[in-house]
Amino acid sequence: MSDPTISFEPPRGMRDFYPEDMAWRNRVFDAWRAASLRTGFAPYDACVVESLALLERKAGEEVSDQIYAFEDKSGRKLALRPEMTPTLARMVAARQGQLQFPIKWFTTAQCFRYERMTRGRKREHYQWNLDIVGEEAISAEAEILATAADALSAMGLPNNAYRIRVNNRALLAEVLAKLGVADHQHAAIFLALDKRGKISDAEISSLLTTAGLDNATIAKAFEILAVTSLDQVADIVGSDSTALADLKELFHLASLYGIADRLLFDIGVIRGLAYYTGIVFEAFDTAGKFRAIFGGGRYDSLLTTIGGNPTPAVGLGFGDVVIMEVLKEYGAAENIIASDTTIIGYMSPEQRDAATTLATRLRREGRNVNLALTPQKPKAFFARASASAASAVYIGPDDVSSGVARLKDLQTRVETEIPLNT
Ligand code: HAM
Repeated sequence: MSDPTISFEPPRGMRDFYPEDMAWRNRVFDAWRAASLRTGFAPYDACVVESLALLERKAGEEVSDQIYAFEDKSGRKLALRPEMTPTLARMVAARQGQLQFPIKWFTTAQCFRYERMTRGRKREHYQWNLDIVGEEAISAEAEILATAADALSAMGLPNNAYRIRVNNRALLAEVLAKLGVADHQHAAIFLALDKRGKISDAEISSLLTTAGLDNATIAKAFEILAVTSLDQVADIVGSDSTALADLKELFHLASLYGIADRLLFDIGVIRGLAYYTGIVFEAFDTAGKFRAIFGGGRYDSLLTTIGGNPTPAVGLGFGDVVIMEVLKEYGAAENIIASDTTIIGYMSPEQRDAATTLATRLRREGRNVNLALTPQKPKAFFARASASAASAVYIGPDDVSSGVARLKDLQTRVETEIPLNT
C-alpha cells in the first residue's frame, strides 16, 4: 500500500532541479565562478548546518524570524543557514592569526529561509557570496561590484537591463549623530527605514518611536529620504563628510572599471540586515519588475560582534532565483549553452559491440558520449538525439561491414566520416 502522505512535490518552497533546470542553474553558477576567478577570488565552502547562536541576532531583522532551527539528538540548538556571512565571519575569526589580509573569497551557498512565498522568493536558494575581508579602502567595494557586473555580462544580460543602487549607511549615521541620536539606536532606525515601500510611513514612524526617536527626528529622517543627489546630501552633511567622500570615490572607481553607467545613488537603499556599517548596494532590473538581483555592503563590525578582532569587510550575496527570471524576461535565455554531448546508437544487437568500442574510444579522447543501452529504430534515436545532444552517430549493419560510420552535427546537419575499427 502506498503512503498517501507522500507527495511527488518537494516540500513547499524547496526546489527540485531536473536536467533542463540544471542547464539554467549551471549557466548562472558557471558565470559566478568564472567572474570570481577572473578577479582573483579564492573558493571556500562551509557546513550548511550552523549553531543557532551564531545566526540569531537581536536587532529585529526579518531573517532572524525565518531561520529553520532544530535540536539534534544531543539537544544542541542548530539551524540551516539563512545566509553565509555569519559563517564566513566565524571561519575568518577562527584563523585570524594565520590569514594574510585582505582575503578575497567566494562561494555558492545553499541557504534556507522560512519566507512568505512571493515571486523571486523561495524557502531554499543558492547564493553567490563574494567577500573581501581585511580591507578598509573603497577599492574593495569597487572590485566587488565590478565582479558582479562581469558575472551578469557572462550570463548574457545586457548592461541596460539592470542598475546597481548605492548608498552609504554612514551618511545616515552622520546625519543621525548631528541630530543627537545615540549610536546604539542606529541599527533599529536603519531596519525601520528599510521597510519603506513595504509598509506604510505611519507604521515606520511608530517603529522609529519604539526605537527611541522623537517626532522632530522622525520628520528629519523622512526629509533625508527625499534626497535624490549627492549635492543635496552635501548640503545636509557638509562637504567634509567622509561618508560622502567614500561614495564619490566609489563612483570615480566605477568609471575606471567601466560600470559607472549602471551605478546610481539611492538614499533609500538601506538593506534589511543590521550588520552593515558603510556603503550598501542592491541591483535591480531596470524596469523594476523583480526583487533585488543581488545585495551587499560593508560590515566592519561583524567580526567583533562574534568575538573576533576588529576587521573591515565588504561583500555581496547574489541569489539564483531572481536572476533566472530576469534572464528569461530580457531575452538572454535564448543563447543557453548547448549540450556538447555526442550520442551513439545502433540498429540491432549485432552492432552493439562496434558502438561500445567507438564510445569507449571517444570517451578516452575526452569527448562526452551518451551510448544507447539497447538497439533503437532510427526515428526514435534521432528524435532523442536532437533533444539532448550536439552530434550523433547511428550504426547500422553496413557501417560495421565497411568499418566507417557517420558523425552528424545536429545543428548544421553536416556529416563527417568516423572510423569504427581504430
Ligand atoms: P540578502 O539581501 O538577504 O543579503 O540576500 C542576498 C541575495 O540573496 C538577494 O538579493 C537575493 O538575490 C537572494 N535571496 C535572499 N533570500 C532569498 C530567498 N528567500 N529566495 C531567493 N533568493 C533569495 C545577504 O544574505 C547578505 N549575507 C549578503 C552579503 C554577503 N553581505 C555581505 N556579504
